[in-house]
Amino acid sequence: MASSSRAAGRTWDVVSLGTVAVLGVLGVRRRHAADGANPPLSPSTADRDNFDLSGAQCIVTGASSGIGAEVAWGLARAGADKVQMACRDLGRCERKRADKLTQCLAARPSDEAEVAGLSPAEAASLRAKKRRKCALLHQTCICAHLELTDPDSVRTFAGSFSGSSGSQRISSSLSDGHLGLPRLVLVNNAAVICDSRDGVDSAGSGNMVQWANHFGHFLLTSLLLPIMGPGSCVIIVACQSHRWGSLKIQRDAGDEICSDAIEHSHGNMGSFSGPLSSLGLAWYARYARSKLCNVLFAAELRKRYPDGPVCLAVSPGRMDTRLYEGAPGWFHRPLTLLARACFHTPDEGAAHILAAMAEAETGRRRSIAAAAAADVSSKASTEEESSPPPLYWHCGRPQRPSAASEDPLLGAALWRASEAACKL
Ligand SMILES: NC(=O)c1ccc[n+]([C@@H]2O[C@H](COP(=O)([O-])OP(=O)(O)OC[C@H]3O[C@@H](n4cnc5c(N)ncnc54)[C@H](OP(=O)(O)O)[C@@H]3O)[C@@H](O)[C@H]2O)c1
Repeated sequence: MASSSRAAGRTWDVVSLGTVAVLGVLGVRRRHAADGANPPLSPSTADRDNFDLSGAQCIVTGASSGIGAEVAWGLARAGADKVQMACRDLGRCERKRADKLTQCLAARPSDEAEVAGLSPAEAASLRAKKRRKCALLHQTCICAHLELTDPDSVRTFAGSFSGSSGSQRISSSLSDGHLGLPRLVLVNNAAVICDSRDGVDSAGSGNMVQWANHFGHFLLTSLLLPIMGPGSCVIIVACQSHRWGSLKIQRDAGDEICSDAIEHSHGNMGSFSGPLSSLGLAWYARYARSKLCNVLFAAELRKRYPDGPVCLAVSPGRMDTRLYEGAPGWFHRPLTLLARACFHTPDEGAAHILAAMAEAETGRRRSIAAAAAADVSSKASTEEESSPPPLYWHCGRPQRPSAASEDPLLGAALWRASEAACKL
């Protein structure tokens, strides 16, 4: 009996590994697509002059690792006044911060090219300037504690941030105007692919992944919205996996709204949530669901706060990061190897995020200029200039997200469910 159940388990393991390999191949194909005919944007190809964050206060969740650490450093390089690396493990955060300083100081090749042809005194002065620049970036990025699965930790973080950013209050609406408030850049980046507290094989009712990837960020964003001044933005780090996610919500009216039905009504296949769960990949289905929530949240935030911060959902592409180490059992090893061999580096992922922000910032400045210009030639051109940036970005380029993630009824239902979960 025991041996037959072990054999059945092994069969499922093989099937599951096959599924993971398919996911990996999809990642590789995406990488080639991005590298080939349609190369991803990076801040160097985007309009860098418009990507000036001087005066901005930034928060990057999950900046102790992977993409978050690179984004934090990138925001500091773009001139931000302060970048809070909001992490659950302060020791890891400080180590990452120290690594970034070491990397910056050791950036020899460009250093050598820059000093070629200079006198020794000029070269020494240039090197000293670079060292000062690295030290400044290191001081700009500071570590702060944030555990997204703990609402008290999120509230404490938001409260101390609002105090340290010069605003003494957190109210519940933007209705009293937001002039005089700081420019805030919030990058909701932290995520886990699996949390053992949720269980691995069954669909279960555990929602730690949902808290880390969606509810915690929903609460944080809601608490910070009232102190976001002009030019603020909220970047929600999403994932192509949102297309695989399935979400069913009980609405106030008592009926249920389901993402699969929405996908079907658009002629799409719907999610793979059921098959994933029956393949023992319920943990991946949970991750995909949380990523669907990320895109829905971004769309609903825009709808509710049209004059609020610019909000983008950005998929960075598949990256070689610690994310896959969180996969259960022996999955993490092949996934990690696959990531190492085929996926992008974290700084490429960060470049995709920063590029989307730069594009959105360019659009924002253009619309301010168009609104201010006295000699705007036609109403049509003004409307065109002030249209909001695309909602969803993949590898630094705008893309249409899944039909369910744009559905206003599902977005509204998720918002209410999230408010209830966060006791807002
Ligand atoms: N890697 C990819 O291929 C890929 C693809 C598409 C989208 N993304 C998205 O990119 C984002 C960053 O992921 P990554 O690849 O850079 O992964 P990563 O290296 O594992 O980084 C995730 C970060 O989130 C933090 N974190 C996890 N749970 C947290 C919690 N409860 N409270 C606070 N912080 C928490 C982690 O903290 P610790 O250091 O303490 O673990 C870590 O700093 C995620 O939103 C992910 O969904 C990644």
